Amino acid sequence: MRRVTLTQYLVGRQQNNLINADLRLLLETIARACKAISTRVNKGALADGLGAAGTDNIQGEAQKKLDVLSNEILMEANVWGGNLAAFASEEVERPVPITEPYKRGEYLLLIDPLDGSSNIDVNISVGTIFSVLRCPKTAEGKYCEPEEAAFLQPGSRQVAAGFAVYGPTTVFVITVGDGVHGFTLDRETYTFVQTHPDIKIPADTAEFAINTSNMRRWEPPVKRYIDECLAGTDGPRGKDFNMRWVASMVADVFRTLTRGGIFMYPRDSKQKEGRLRLMYEANPMALIVEQAGGAATDGARRILDIQPKGLHQRVAVILGSKNEVDRVTSYHK
Ligand code: AHG
Ligand code: MN
Ligand code: MN
Repeated sequence: MRRVTLTQYLVGRQQNNLINADLRLLLETIARACKAISTRVNKGALADGLGAAGTDNIQGEAQKKLDVLSNEILMEANVWGGNLAAFASEEVERPVPITEPYKRGEYLLLIDPLDGSSNIDVNISVGTIFSVLRCPKTAEGKYCEPEEAAFLQPGSRQVAAGFAVYGPTTVFVITVGDGVHGFTLDRETYTFVQTHPDIKIPADTAEFAINTSNMRRWEPPVKRYIDECLAGTDGPRGKDFNMRWVASMVADVFRTLTRGGIFMYPRDSKQKEGRLRLMYEANPMALIVEQAGGAATDGARRILDIQPKGLHQRVAVILGSKNEVDRVTSYHK
């Protein structure tokens, strides 16, 4: 069987007028940067890639060497394409506008350069998450200055989103609004090849993902839902549930896309806003999950409808198989 490469897929989307040439180049460039990150992740200790960078990011989290390197790789790959107005990154306090000598374009790129970085040193899957927005225009029809305010658009305005997971294989997952497609990196030809066309999440599941070490601090609806799952065949659900928690959102979401499941990082009495970041993690994953037929809420609202107030804002996340997400959301009402 002849498989479609990521480039062929994107050219097809351009020919169908779903994306323009600038967005196609941007998405290809992100994918190329992900290949470079994959190679560095793969080399691990051989390339002195493990361990702490010795710096903290804006969230006050200790950066790993690979957090810093992945951020550099993504920014350097994208700065010259002429398609971006600015970047924002989990690892950088302020948005980075494109300036001379480079041409400024119409898109805003948001990245979690390395997701799951607590897993790097222990050889467990990590990844990269990205989200693309259009730079808003002023009343006169000119592009706004790409400052923080330009980025504060609800996730429903994303024109593309995706992630790479650096696991036993490297897989690149993307949506441009016509479903979700997965591409596996062929290391012999160094190309992403479509292996997971039109991914759909089953509506029902018997598998949940949550960090249960926070259980004593959860809000009651989440505690109720998990208690009911744990009660298994003896409880109100009448069936046994399985549990998984990789602690890399990319890996947990990829599993959810592949075989269904519910993934939750709720707010709790210690992390009152939640743990995950709206702009770099929740929004892109919510678009992907919805495009795959699943659902994503913060317990009360659809994630994609939330009006962001800050670039680094955190949010509660409940996503995955639709019937289970709807159930947890209904427990909040
Ligand atoms: P990051 O490495 O980009 O900071 O994100 C880690 C996130 C996410 O990938 C994962 O689901 C969650 O943090 C894990 O949190 P716990 O360590 O609390 O399990
Ligand atoms: Mn992350
Ligand atoms: Mn990260």
